Amino acid sequence: MKLDFKNKWVLVTGASSGLGKAICMELALKEGANLIMVARRLDRLNELKNSIKLKSAVKIEVISTDLTQENEINSLAQILEKTYNIYAAVINAGMTLMKKQNQITEEETRNIIDLNIRSTIHLTNYFIAHFQKRNSNGGLLYISSLSSGFPTPYQSLYSGTKAFLNNFILALSQEHAQEKFSFSIYAPGGISTDMTNNVQVKHLEKFLKRPADCARTAIYGFKLRKLLFSSYTSIELLFADILPIRLKLYIMRKLYERKN
Ligand SMILES: NC(=O)c1ccc[n+]([C@@H]2O[C@H](COP(=O)([O-])OP(=O)(O)OC[C@H]3O[C@@H](n4cnc5c(N)ncnc54)[C@H](OP(=O)(O)O)[C@@H]3O)[C@@H](O)[C@H]2O)c1
Repeated sequence: MKLDFKNKWVLVTGASSGLGKAICMELALKEGANLIMVARRLDRLNELKNSIKLKSAVKIEVISTDLTQENEINSLAQILEKTYNIYAAVINAGMTLMKKQNQITEEETRNIIDLNIRSTIHLTNYFIAHFQKRNSNGGLLYISSLSSGFPTPYQSLYSGTKAFLNNFILALSQEHAQEKFSFSIYAPGGISTDMTNNVQVKHLEKFLKRPADCARTAIYGFKLRKLLFSSYTSIELLFADILPIRLKLYIMRKLYERKN
């Protein structure tokens, strides 16, 4: 049975910008979902809430949470458990740094691991229990990346975290294969967001997709409960599937090498 978000509560992390914001608009304006929007910047969340409210009567709650902080995730989980029957969640918040691994500080390393890996595990454990308790037939959508499929120089840590995400969720989907809720992973290529708005990838700008287009693909695949899907351009497909690994790595290194 397809997912149907109409009048149901759907939580989106990383809702304050980029793909998360576009997914919220797609869910509210096209699917009629009620939203719980999570990120750190409350002003951005409220701005988005007000702009959606002008166009739709869906219910929207915003919750400011730093997902690198375990106590903040626990507080979020408590609020959700007490107040909401959540039908679906989009685990979208993520971060990268485009530089050599030996230039990344310990604190930056911890932040990336805490957000991309630890918070994903924590939220997944929470939602599985939430769904089981309610015998829910909802679903979880994870935003991975093209870089999960092959290593990305100058984003080594990031691409490692996305590879973790894919393996973790794909394996977990089998542990829960007999249950009614579903797991989906969307692994897009480059998108024009704050994440890619920097000097290292300026020369790749023409290859970036629009957040709204990726959000549409993401929600379409989610509704169909697709397990692992993407929206690569043909060049990205060539990279992902056809070229030998050494050649892919060489090209990726050249593409991401800092332009001075
Ligand atoms: N852009 C791309 O080319 C691309 C390609 C493939 C996959 N992706 C994936 O798409 C997802 C969204 O990225 P984006 O491109 O939309 O980037 P973005 O515009 O930078 O958005 C990142 C979102 O994550 C939130 N976030 C960051 N740190 C957080 C924290 N500690 N706690 C809670 N929320 C936090 C940010 O909100 P606050 O700062 O307000 O907290 C923001 O809403 C990520 O998982 C990324 O890996 C992006």
